[in-house]
Amino acid sequence: MFDAEKIRGEFPILAREVYGRPLVYLDSGATAQKPLCVLEAVDRLLREENANIHRGVHYLAERTTEAYEEVRARIAAWIGAAEKEEVIFTSGATASLNTVAYAWGEKAVGAGDNIVVSEMEHHSNLVPWQLLAQRKGAEVRMLPFDETGRLRTELLGELVDERTRAVAVTQASNTLGTRPDLRPVIEAAHAVGAVAVVDGCQGAVHGGVDVRALDCDFYAFSGHKLFGPTGIGILYGKRALLDAMPPFLGGGDMVDRVTFARTTYAPVPLKFEAGTANFVGAIGLGEAVKFVERFDPAEVEAYETALLRRTEERLGEIEGLRIYGRTPDKCPIVSFNVEGVHPYDLGMILDKLGIAVRTGHHCAEPVMDHFGVAGMCRASLALYNTPAEIDALAEGVRRAVRMLRP
Ligand code: ALA
Repeated sequence: MFDAEKIRGEFPILAREVYGRPLVYLDSGATAQKPLCVLEAVDRLLREENANIHRGVHYLAERTTEAYEEVRARIAAWIGAAEKEEVIFTSGATASLNTVAYAWGEKAVGAGDNIVVSEMEHHSNLVPWQLLAQRKGAEVRMLPFDETGRLRTELLGELVDERTRAVAVTQASNTLGTRPDLRPVIEAAHAVGAVAVVDGCQGAVHGGVDVRALDCDFYAFSGHKLFGPTGIGILYGKRALLDAMPPFLGGGDMVDRVTFARTTYAPVPLKFEAGTANFVGAIGLGEAVKFVERFDPAEVEAYETALLRRTEERLGEIEGLRIYGRTPDKCPIVSFNVEGVHPYDLGMILDKLGIAVRTGHHCAEPVMDHFGVAGMCRASLALYNTPAEIDALAEGVRRAVRMLRP
């Protein structure tokens, strides 16, 4: 059986106190904590094996190159990619999505074209498309969500047309927790020859992905939200698309032959990995994926959903508290506000009680605009959270509200 208490023992930070109180970490959507296997792998690598990859024939260089490429293969298998060359290491999901918007977008999008983006996107899956549209004289169209946070996929027929070049949508909203029904989105994109770009930052952590079953064209996620190190992320792309795309960044490791007259490029994936790759982060991410693979996804899902329901129930008992995002199959992310209380004030009092939540616009300002608020508090849960922590959150919110609201 899934045992969160036992799992907590693998996360040293969860045993610490803040302000003399036990840490209640409910900000895993921003960054997840790291298990010992990741910490130890990174430490061991730097102490015992550090050497740059793809550049040397010496023992250490061979060891790190092999380990780096093994992680690529592990991640390809984990996300269901057809081949490991479809997995590109980036610095994070933001870099992945910008790579698509530049390397794919520069060639594929022109004046008068449009890109359909869901209203619930994190800025990293909206702003790169706005920048592309500005450069090209294209249009960004919004696919809205309803008051429950459900993506209004029934509007795809009105928004997607023969000038649509890409449809960009999240697998799970970092603010509402919504897991949109991606099938009609991807089908609508493909029906007009557009690509489907999926932000998997929260989705990869809560349920994983099978990119081939999903049939998305590009998929991005960050290592640090998946219990891995910061500064490492993944861009998955279908091989034919990646092969046809020009490089985004130029530099070492991404070339075939360089002369002053002409440069030819390495094949994918290296074409998109200019400069010294974050091989330390990649190898740490490989350990994080191994950590995730130890669990039965159905058990994790059941546990996280039980925690989510408890959060909704406990918070729902507080007068004047509103939860944003009420779709039945959402992932364990609960954004909320309390009437008459500023989310920053609430977040600061919770902090003094040892409870870490995120406050603000969550890099999803269109979601704030939808609900007419400047910010929200957000509890984002992970497999290491416990029912007692949820109760502590609810009690903390009650206490803060008593202090803040006369
Ligand atoms: N995108 C991260 C979040 O949702 C940072 O908090």
